[in-house]
Amino acid sequence: MLKLFDLVEESEPKKRIDELRKEIERYNYYYYTKNESIISDFEFDKLLKELEKLEKEYPEFKEDISPTKHVGAIDLKETKFKKVIHKKPMLSLSNSYNIEDVVAFTERIEKNLEYKHEKLEYVLELKLDGASISITYEKGQLVRAVTRGDGIEGEDVTENILAINTIPNYLKEDVDLEVRGEIVLPLSQFEKLNEERLKNGEEIFANPRNAASGTLRQLDSEIVKERGLDAYFYYVVEPLKYGFKTHRESLDYLDKVGIKTTGVAEVIDDLTIMEKRIAYWEIEREKLDFETDGLVIKLDNIDLWDEVGYTTKSPRWAIAYKFPAKQVTTKLLGITWQVGRTGKVTPVAELEEVELSGSRVKRASLHNMDEILRKDIRVGDRVFIEKAAEIIPQVVSSIKEVRTGEEKEVIPPTNCPVCESVLEKEDGLVDLKCVNPNCPAIIQGSIEYFVSRDGM
Ligand code: IVH
Repeated sequence: MLKLFDLVEESEPKKRIDELRKEIERYNYYYYTKNESIISDFEFDKLLKELEKLEKEYPEFKEDISPTKHVGAIDLKETKFKKVIHKKPMLSLSNSYNIEDVVAFTERIEKNLEYKHEKLEYVLELKLDGASISITYEKGQLVRAVTRGDGIEGEDVTENILAINTIPNYLKEDVDLEVRGEIVLPLSQFEKLNEERLKNGEEIFANPRNAASGTLRQLDSEIVKERGLDAYFYYVVEPLKYGFKTHRESLDYLDKVGIKTTGVAEVIDDLTIMEKRIAYWEIEREKLDFETDGLVIKLDNIDLWDEVGYTTKSPRWAIAYKFPAKQVTTKLLGITWQVGRTGKVTPVAELEEVELSGSRVKRASLHNMDEILRKDIRVGDRVFIEKAAEIIPQVVSSIKEVRTGEEKEVIPPTNCPVCESVLEKEDGLVDLKCVNPNCPAIIQGSIEYFVSRDGM
């Protein structure tokens, strides 16, 4: 007999499953349809993994419509473009975050293949953080370019793709070919674009990915031309049709017919070397002029792909290795005002403690009041923080979409938080200043400076 106790116990996971499904769909909607990130990839994956685990533990609550079953997708009802059904669905990749996940990935493949084969080789590639695209060439001529959309059906953005001059309109061979890759906005272009937007009083793009995918959806292809988008390709649809034996061979072919690849495709058959190359790219990627959010590891032998198989969301013969997030979200609990040795009063964000690239963070820099106003940051906001070149974390932006209405605008102090004398704002300068030479904070700061390495 079912006791009341069992009913209560059972309803908890169901509640959490529903909650997670709703929350994840909401993040998907913002990411794919509104082109805004309101959570970091790492935090998103954590929720998705929690849901997957619960769905496995409680199969009775399994449903066909769950974010664990489909790839994140744009809501195509809102598109301004003609819709096109993909000849082959555009899949996603499952994510990994450490070498153990990668080892497990290769072991799964070997188990699936029942060790029937020789030592397996894998290709290590860069994972570009942009907007995915599928381009069809007929007899060597570009005839169609379609965004991923919901994976089954995408948006026809051919006109805009023709405006990107690093994508050839004609190939060097008269082949029928469908290729998939990523549209990116080079970092140098991204900075220029945001500077201009700031000058014109327009809202700036949060990151190059948003800028690339927003540009791709412009109705005016002249704008696309101006922005300087670029593209790299990493996949040939139905590769066996062309007689390729390995993925590497298919990439070489793309280069040969004039389709740009990143040039990074390392064939590796040893997991120790794989680990070393992952560590190498984690550093080296900073030198690239486009954003990468990780690496992709693909089984090189194309003949084995179908045997290894697919889930509803992704191929089992490939996996993404995500780099540690540079940005995470947390809650802004309050602001304290710090007085430096020169009397400069600067706001410091007090945060709900969070892990950011390997350390626990609960305070971050906010620079000055103008920056707070420009970024519209309020106490109680969910904010993105990042470690930039400096070690001190910074508040990057607030996430307006998740405001509850309880958030409070930041009011700058009128008096010094230490000595209480009236603060001054120097003409033309944004900083607040304590001008009391006897302020204990200024004295302490000066002594500290005097005895520091740079001082005495
Ligand atoms: S392979 C079946 N390779 O990352 C082939 N994807 O998170 C699946 N991406 O949807 C894609 N760089 O838009 C592949 N070197 C790369 C990639 C890459 C970026 C994107 C792609 C994919 C997403 C999955």
